[in-house]
Amino acid sequence: MPATGCRSAGALPQTVDEAFVKALPKAELHAHLSGSVSMKTLHGMWSRKRASGRCLKLLDPLQAMLSIAESVDIISFFPLFDQYIYQLLDDIESVQEATRSVIRDFATDGVKYLELRTTPREHAQTGMTKASYVHAVHEVIQTHNNSYDVVCEQSHDIKVYLILSIDRKMTLEQANEVLDLAMTLRTGCVVGIDLSGNPARGDVETFTPVFRRAKTEGLHITVHFAEVLASATQRELEVILSWEPDRLGHVICTSEDVERTIKERRTGLELCLSCNVLAKMTEGSIADHHFRKWRMTSCPIALSTDDVGIFQSPLSNEYLLAAQHFELGPQDLVALSKSAASIAFGDSQSLRASLKTFETYFQAQGYGC
Ligand code: IMP
Ligand code: ZN
Repeated sequence: MPATGCRSAGALPQTVDEAFVKALPKAELHAHLSGSVSMKTLHGMWSRKRASGRCLKLLDPLQAMLSIAESVDIISFFPLFDQYIYQLLDDIESVQEATRSVIRDFATDGVKYLELRTTPREHAQTGMTKASYVHAVHEVIQTHNNSYDVVCEQSHDIKVYLILSIDRKMTLEQANEVLDLAMTLRTGCVVGIDLSGNPARGDVETFTPVFRRAKTEGLHITVHFAEVLASATQRELEVILSWEPDRLGHVICTSEDVERTIKERRTGLELCLSCNVLAKMTEGSIADHHFRKWRMTSCPIALSTDDVGIFQSPLSNEYLLAAQHFELGPQDLVALSKSAASIAFGDSQSLRASLKTFETYFQAQGYGC
């Protein structure tokens, strides 16, 4: 069902449909690498590994991922990575293939600016270390960005940056190791660090020295924030806000006090409609999502997918859902995409230029009227 919005003279078309949201140049700011790999790519890896006698106990991703997507909730969600996806992405070759395919999938969906985030991970059997993992992902992104600069083909028309994630179950030493890796690659495509992982685990106070050091070093900070009640005590939220994060992800179980601070600071918000509803992190349907509330504030919002490989809703569909459930018209969606571009950690110039061209084109077409 197309979504409609008000139209003034010379504005964008009235109707938002699949073609419009796909063509809209977009920024994806909250995407976990391992959660963004498509079933098709995982299936290809699974088939090849099985042919060489590996992963024999793993179900075919075409079956496994579908049943996961149907029944996933925030409790069953995290073991899925350790018990399934990481068993397939267990060596450098697979990690690089996954990174390439994720970039390609976002590009195909009309994403022009992408910040991928990933947690440094090791795998003893294949000899993959945290450092070799991060360098492998970084190399793919750098190669991609360089070919984008030179060749500028359509399929390469997406600028990619990397954020390294600290998992809530890490020790202080492990978290410092992540920051050290990020520092080493900041002259490449690494733009910041993130705190993620099972929100029921860990004490965020552990990471205060790391996030303070990141801030001093000038790295950007984004944090998964108030995802569930267990990770939304007043103390936890105050500790995180004391790190002065540039952006916050999810922002679901907040108190009035906390919301006031976020609004005063105009912190960037990464909001994920399908992920929150499907994983039952929010009550009700998309129309009840807190996007409605935050949209009325001056906090810039970046609609995001979180884990498109699991939730199966590409970014273009998140824009379509926003249009359908929050009565947004084409002009509102362009504004939303600009809002995401405004809180990008890397250089979003080319996205802004694409948005300008897009707006001019559609104004001239009077599309959908
Ligand atoms: P990776 O960091 O590339 O391996 O992506 C998967 C990891 O991201 C998971 O193991 C989690 O630690 C984290 N992650 C993915 N989705 C979420 C989320 O919604 N909340 C918190 N952490 C998440
Ligand atoms: Zn996330």
